[in-house]
Amino acid sequence: MPLPRRIVLVGPMGAGKSTIGRHLARELGYHFLDSDRMIEERCGADIPWIFDVEGEEGFRQRESAMLRELSDVGASVLATGGGAVMKDENHPFLKQDAVVVYLKASLDQQIERTRKDRNRPLLQNDDPEGVLRRLFELRDPIYTHLADVVMLTDRKSPRLVVRQILNRLNPRTPRQRRKVRKEGKHND
Ligand code: S3P
Repeated sequence: MPLPRRIVLVGPMGAGKSTIGRHLARELGYHFLDSDRMIEERCGADIPWIFDVEGEEGFRQRESAMLRELSDVGASVLATGGGAVMKDENHPFLKQDAVVVYLKASLDQQIERTRKDRNRPLLQNDDPEGVLRRLFELRDPIYTHLADVVMLTDRKSPRLVVRQILNRLNPRTPRQRRKVRKEGKHND
């Protein structure tokens, strides 16, 4: 299978999209893009501030605009926010020229990895675990439907997840991959 021009990571909060995305991009020599961080840079404010001032819908509009913009860049790995799949209008932007990888994590892992987080407004309440459960029930079928590859991340190091994704995408040896990277080619 030729390497795709874009790899788009979807999945719940705490699945490891940003960390794994950064490693994967480095491995492939692709740009790493993180839609949440880019929304923050563009807006000059962090996500809690955007939710506070503009509400979730204001954030979702910024997110759709960013996903549209990022659908058209070159070889890249894109980490999306957990709710990026919720608007149908975003789906073509996620799928365009891309292999969509669903980074799947159990509820326990999501809870564990987001426990101390203060940067996710949807979890700043009395029942973050209940929120994660409800969001997972709602979103898991959508992630699964959109995904070309589903990859479990529970108790795996980012390195291992990256290796498993690369094996699924392009089952070449690491040596062959290094050669392709050195020559700056992303397609067979
Ligand atoms: C959200 C997930 C967050 C961020 C925002 C909303 C969600 O991104 O986009 O707080 O709706 O699940 P991460 O999945 O990177 O935490």
